[in-house]
Amino acid sequence: MSEPVPGVWVLRTPRSAYVLSLGGEDVPLAAHWGAPVDDDAAVALAKVPFDAARGSWESHVDGREEYPSDTGMRFVEPALALRFRDGGRTVRWVFGAGEVDGADPGHLRLRYTELTRPLRLVLHYRVSAAHDVIERWAELQTDVPVEVLRADSAAWCPPPREGYRLGSLHGRWGADSRLERSALPDGVVRLGSRRTTTSPMHNPWIALDDGTATETTGEVWTAALAWSGTWRIDVQRLPAGRVVANVGAGHEEPVASLSGGTTYATPRSCGLWSDGGFGAASRAWHDYVRGHVLPHGDELRPVLYNSWEATGFLLDEANQMALAERAAALGCELFVMDDGWFGARVSDNAGLGDWLPNSTRFPNGLGPLIKRVGELGMRFGIWVEPEAVNPDSDLYRAHPDWVYASPGYPRHEMRNQLVLDLGRPDVAAWLHGWLDTLLTDNDIAFVKWDMNRPVTDPGPQRDLLWSSRHALNLYAILDRLRRDHPHVRFESCASGGGRVDLGILARTDQVWPSDNTDASDRLHIQEGFSQLYPARAMTAWVTDAPNFLTGNRLPLRYRFHVAMAGVLGIGGDLAHWSPEEQATAAELIARYKRIRPIVQHGALHRLRSPRESDAPALAYLSASGEEAAVFQLLDGHRYGEPAPPARLPFLPPGTWQDADTGTRYPAAFLAVHGLDAGLYRNHDSAVTHLRRVSRPA
Ligand code: DGJ
Repeated sequence: MSEPVPGVWVLRTPRSAYVLSLGGEDVPLAAHWGAPVDDDAAVALAKVPFDAARGSWESHVDGREEYPSDTGMRFVEPALALRFRDGGRTVRWVFGAGEVDGADPGHLRLRYTELTRPLRLVLHYRVSAAHDVIERWAELQTDVPVEVLRADSAAWCPPPREGYRLGSLHGRWGADSRLERSALPDGVVRLGSRRTTTSPMHNPWIALDDGTATETTGEVWTAALAWSGTWRIDVQRLPAGRVVANVGAGHEEPVASLSGGTTYATPRSCGLWSDGGFGAASRAWHDYVRGHVLPHGDELRPVLYNSWEATGFLLDEANQMALAERAAALGCELFVMDDGWFGARVSDNAGLGDWLPNSTRFPNGLGPLIKRVGELGMRFGIWVEPEAVNPDSDLYRAHPDWVYASPGYPRHEMRNQLVLDLGRPDVAAWLHGWLDTLLTDNDIAFVKWDMNRPVTDPGPQRDLLWSSRHALNLYAILDRLRRDHPHVRFESCASGGGRVDLGILARTDQVWPSDNTDASDRLHIQEGFSQLYPARAMTAWVTDAPNFLTGNRLPLRYRFHVAMAGVLGIGGDLAHWSPEEQATAAELIARYKRIRPIVQHGALHRLRSPRESDAPALAYLSASGEEAAVFQLLDGHRYGEPAPPARLPFLPPGTWQDADTGTRYPAAFLAVHGLDAGLYRNHDSAVTHLRRVSRPA
């Protein structure tokens, strides 16, 4: 961080620079977001005038302003819009100071006060020498009541380029995180969620490039939001071609109603520039998530077994013990019992909210099963959906007022359930209380925290619910549980990947990316997921064939190979796996454990995309650079043609050896010719473990 001249700040990350300057009327302008620059260049960049040819016909700040309000000489979507009690909406921010925190020299605060009203605005920027992400957020302090119609975390302004393209992740249940790249039209492209959670509809992440970036080349400007409630990203292409992306919490107005004497802080938006194409941008994100977001990013996640696809709601102590025995024999390390263990939850019609073990299914409580799982050498994990309730439950009968509802109107049920109003202190205390007791009384190492429906009838809580309250209270409960039960690890799930974002990842250990476990579809889902999130956080199960959703019958080895590219889990009904299938599974789980540090902590190289190739391939290079795991899979491949070898230009020089066959290859051979796995039939697949055995002299 430097301030070479007053009013010009240079934020530096290891591989990028971000230059800010004060423009006319004190507004902060983006002067540069890209390659590293020295102070002289930064000052020159800060002096670049607005295109004079457009003279007075256009705003002089649109497309460059870091935090536009909704009044004054600007016509972009506002990042900040306020409404005062007297109906006034005008604000004019007067610059006070740019302060750098002595204890945290990467943290810059730009302080403003409002011209006529007792309000203060602080724009925060934080960079670190450890990663390439710029964190931004805003804080509004008010002494008078004010409605916050909009308060984004940041407006990101990439430099002027021709032909901007927008990359985003979209989806729905069973088809989460699918990557789309398309030319950015004039106007506004809005991504977002109004579904209480982050939602699978879009993920709060974008990647902009000038239309020429590839996986390995080109500049990419990418941003994300660390938030698990409703949200919005507006990507605007302005009349003069400038692009600005407003990123923030909340979907509709207002996002908050503040009384005097309060402070409203937005969640963080994170921005990252890379000139190494989409692949390098993803690797930089992964480093950041593993090193600075995940609570234990340096830990290796165990191979888990999850009972959902095997037993569904028909679970009991005997069938869970039988599954646990099989799972342990295969080499699983964590046994997770899914939905159906509590109350009258024998289907999705009843019992949600009654968090005591079903006494018919578990006559002696959870103790015997947990003990057996421990004897088998595994840890025990459990499914919960704390925010929801079935109307047919003792909880709802006792507290019908605890759910979100619009009084006087018919309510809507999805999956026969309603959502608890987490904003109520009594609801939050009850929710924390039973979870705390569950974790205190039982030897539980892992909690799969699910959330299967959005709020549809928010009633009087609408504004606050849809902006922040639900998510903030969820965060507080998770933080407290983590603090009091530090050995417990959490998985975030919302009917699959409905709550995957940088905010939840700061308080969970892995996420369930999709209920779609079809390995062929997963290639696409996992490719989308990997744009921002690392394999270390991506749970991936091997399930049965035919797949419950798609009907596909894919080879067991293929299903394993796709799941081994993340945090491997088994989700099939092991009671029906043949001895041969079990032997194959045991072999592949052992193999996964050998490559696990490479996959979970290594650098991802997407070699051939499933969107463009019927021979998708990817590889992980270990943090040391001495080992690699190469995944090659044929998906939709025809005519029995030999698949092209996967080229590995990123391997450090020297001689590399196939850890299984002993075959040796010079790195240059693998770079130009590639690794030939001998695949030619559709759904052939291979995972090759390479080790560097010698370096150039
Ligand atoms: C939805 C989740 O995504 C599934 O994995 C499973 O846990 C079910 N809920 C259980 O109801």
